[in-house]
Amino acid sequence: MTRDTDDDITDTSSEVDADGDVDITTTLPTNTECDADTTMNEDSDNLTETETEVTVPPTGRTIPDGGATDAEGADDVTLDPWGSSTVSDYQKLFTEFGIETFDDVLPAVPNPHYLMRRGVIFGHREYSPVAKALRNDDPAAVLSGFMPTGDPHIGHKLVFDEIIWHQQRGADAYALIADLEAHAARGLSWSEIDDHARDYLLSLLALGFDPESGELYRQSGNRELQDFAFELGSQANFSEFEGIYGFDSETNVAYMQSVITQMADILYPQLEEPKPTVIPVGPDQDPHVRFARDLAARMRFFKVTKAYASFELTEPERELIAAVYDEREVYAEDASRPRCAEAATWVMNHLMAPTDDTSNETHDGNADMSVDTLGVVVSDAVVESTIEKLENAGMEPLRPRVRFLDANATDEAFEALITAIDGEKRRYDEHIDAFDLNAADATDLAREVETNHGGYGFVAPSSIYHRFMTGLTGGKMSSSVPASHISLLDEPEKGYEKVKQATTGGRETAQKQRELGGKADECPVYELYAYLLANDDDTLATEVYNECVSGDRLCGSCKEQAAELMQAFLEEHQEKRKEVQSLLEDTDISLTSDRRKIAASDTTDSLDDKEE
Ligand code: TRP
Ligand code: SF4
Repeated sequence: MTRDTDDDITDTSSEVDADGDVDITTTLPTNTECDADTTMNEDSDNLTETETEVTVPPTGRTIPDGGATDAEGADDVTLDPWGSSTVSDYQKLFTEFGIETFDDVLPAVPNPHYLMRRGVIFGHREYSPVAKALRNDDPAAVLSGFMPTGDPHIGHKLVFDEIIWHQQRGADAYALIADLEAHAARGLSWSEIDDHARDYLLSLLALGFDPESGELYRQSGNRELQDFAFELGSQANFSEFEGIYGFDSETNVAYMQSVITQMADILYPQLEEPKPTVIPVGPDQDPHVRFARDLAARMRFFKVTKAYASFELTEPERELIAAVYDEREVYAEDASRPRCAEAATWVMNHLMAPTDDTSNETHDGNADMSVDTLGVVVSDAVVESTIEKLENAGMEPLRPRVRFLDANATDEAFEALITAIDGEKRRYDEHIDAFDLNAADATDLAREVETNHGGYGFVAPSSIYHRFMTGLTGGKMSSSVPASHISLLDEPEKGYEKVKQATTGGRETAQKQRELGGKADECPVYELYAYLLANDDDTLATEVYNECVSGDRLCGSCKEQAAELMQAFLEEHQEKRKEVQSLLEDTDISLTSDRRKIAASDTTDSLDDKEE
């Protein structure tokens, strides 16, 4: 089996070295171009033109990072799906894990959600195809899952809202109860799981999920999902589980099964038809997302790449050759037919850094350009390997083409693809080169042939990541510390009380507060406004922020206002939960698991430190 995917799951450890990692509160970009009036060019993903009516969102400046300052191991940036859900340094998620900043795609999102506008949703992986589909009313999907380990709380509400927002913009929406995971990884009994599952579903429905157009399921009750998980399992091996999740010989097998089930969850919306799909989650789930993206590629029949001659290229080599090809007029005897050897000589003479090695005849030791002048950044090793490949190809013409690599195609599909390619094409053992197709059309064609021949044709799943909320008591929000979070099931008065007792970013005295202003950026109460209480009202969130930092707002009245809003929110939410009970009964989800049992065993993970 060929596994030459571009994805980085296999060579990226899910842990990073904590050394030298400074705990900082990341400054978020101020998202000013995000008003509802954003206009966009329909055809482009890289939108530059935005028309804005600026209502400066209040947040988006600095939002605390989930209380990592006080948390133990605060300087670790470890993406562990079953570990502690704090992130001390959001910046590292970009630099070390390759998560992209949400700011980059924000202008492409039609009427962005307030969590997007305020920078609470801070990162993504390849979200632009989803944004584009939403803009154009093309098929798209959203899916997320919930481990029913406790009450749903205000942290989960972020994800509920994200699912519902996408659903309201036309995406097929899926929400699932990760009961297999809760049982295998957290050791919960089936009756506990049933109760919690019900609570999650009721809150999701109460917040506006439409079960008619969307789909709700439990992992354990979805036969199609499990069959599919089994198929995916044939592409995943144990060493990856070790590498990505730190599983070892003591890890129970059901735990592993729950992981492959999550992989199936993530691709499930595409079983009928491939489509851009977003998975809204916390950044702790990123290892799952990367693994799923990798598996999606492995399940494909063909891989489409760009090539310039018969030989294969690595990504950096391809970048270099593309630039060298653009310079062909300079070095080719016949610019309409540049030769690989000509390009090799030119690169060697003009782009190689001078060396002391005088034995190399063709090298004049006096590079007059550098790779940088071509606008590419590659290492010397890449320059050397590229030269070697070009030299070996000799008189072969250097000529751009798209290449269809046979990854897992059936013979029949391979033949069908050859027939389907328009224009000039060349067939090789393991690939086909097409000279008159652009990359986007080639990708579509490969997918079409694949799905017509019994393949899945998956689009790599996308993800968006939200910040973790700070606990009300400072530190992290934890389900095992009731005062740190507000459950969606808390008595409204209880919610009121918890807010009144919350830690703030206020000064020691009212006088100091008036002089210096409060520290809204470090205040869990301000976060409540930004993440939830201000709802869609940016004006309220801005007002709280500005009044706080200018010293016009004192914590007592600020908390009183927040507490009242929280109480009203919980009253309304719980009222709605009652109203949607019949909706839940109408779904075909069973909330009575009839399973036999043995006493729960210890699981390999600590159960107490996740934001659940
Ligand atoms: N693992 C997730 C959690 O810890 C739950 C989950 C299961 C999930 N399947 C999913 C999340 C698919 C997103 C997509 O909460
Ligand atoms: Fe927090 Fe409000 Fe006090 Fe500012 S005034 S520190 S936002 S509680």
